[in-house]
Amino acid sequence: MPEYDRAVAGIPDTLKGRSFTRVADWSPDELLTALDLADELKVERARRRELRILPGRTVGLIFRKPSTRTRISSEVGIAELGGMALYVPAADLQLSRGESTRDTALVLSRFLSAITIRTFDQTEVDEFAEHATIPIVNGLTDTSHPLQALADAMTIRERFGTLEGVRVAYLGDGNNVCHSLMRIAARTGMHLVAASPEGYLPDPVVVASCREDAAASGASIDVMVDPVEAVAGARVLYTDVWTSMGQEDEREQRLRDLAPYRIDAEKLAAAAPDAIALHCLPAHVGEEITADVLYGDRSLVWDQAENRLHVYKAVLALTVR
Ligand code: CP
Ligand code: NVA
Repeated sequence: MPEYDRAVAGIPDTLKGRSFTRVADWSPDELLTALDLADELKVERARRRELRILPGRTVGLIFRKPSTRTRISSEVGIAELGGMALYVPAADLQLSRGESTRDTALVLSRFLSAITIRTFDQTEVDEFAEHATIPIVNGLTDTSHPLQALADAMTIRERFGTLEGVRVAYLGDGNNVCHSLMRIAARTGMHLVAASPEGYLPDPVVVASCREDAAASGASIDVMVDPVEAVAGARVLYTDVWTSMGQEDEREQRLRDLAPYRIDAEKLAAAAPDAIALHCLPAHVGEEITADVLYGDRSLVWDQAENRLHVYKAVLALTVR
């Protein structure tokens, strides 16, 4: 097999050096470029073609929270692009002893070609991006999860052939995953309906700003409390855990408050006839999603998880110099 040639593959240089701290960093066209490349990289991987797009590059993975998909898809993706991954729990860095984010970003920029960060506070990712001279990729914060949103959009487009006009119902906690899904929907023309109980609704500032994006793309963003109204006619039913990392103390209350938002066979039956179920994982089976839906023939959850690999490789292929 010949080596994958980035010029022949037509990977554009327009995103070189750019960070991906949130979905809104990238224009609709840039997001679609990433999705197109992810599709292409998926095909090339199935052909077992060598993709030496990051030869000699080392990408840092700084994590303050556990991870299965983000960490493993990152390490595997970097290796598959011919680069080297360096996983570093944040507690092992001098950051944990008070070295500033700015100094850490400046120094790591001299060693690494990109950094993916999973942390609590979005401002930490933003501060890294402000001071680093290499791309900073958000691997999840308390308020956003942009790589997940790219994989979600890739999965929806694979199934329906388009994103424009696809009605997506997100049920449950209006959290980080919901925010990023809402933003990518707003930028790519999907009709997103988010249903959450009072107290768990998505951030109204994010909703208002996504509605501005939606006006330009033909998307629509609706927020409501009624889960039954939300699923009617939806082609995608999406949920996430009710207790995110860092919220463990609220678990019992959340289980009670969010119970009506569980995705089960009844809600799937009330959606469009060709509706699919998505979940970013990890799932708490029997809480936000029932086993029959998660493991049923309408679930695209495992494709969605696989697509984390392809979108991450696309983001690095586009941004790393
Ligand atoms: N969906 C997702 O980000 O999973 P991990 O927490 O396992 O990385
Ligand atoms: N909302 C979840 C997503 C996990 C991938 C969390 O932040 O824990």
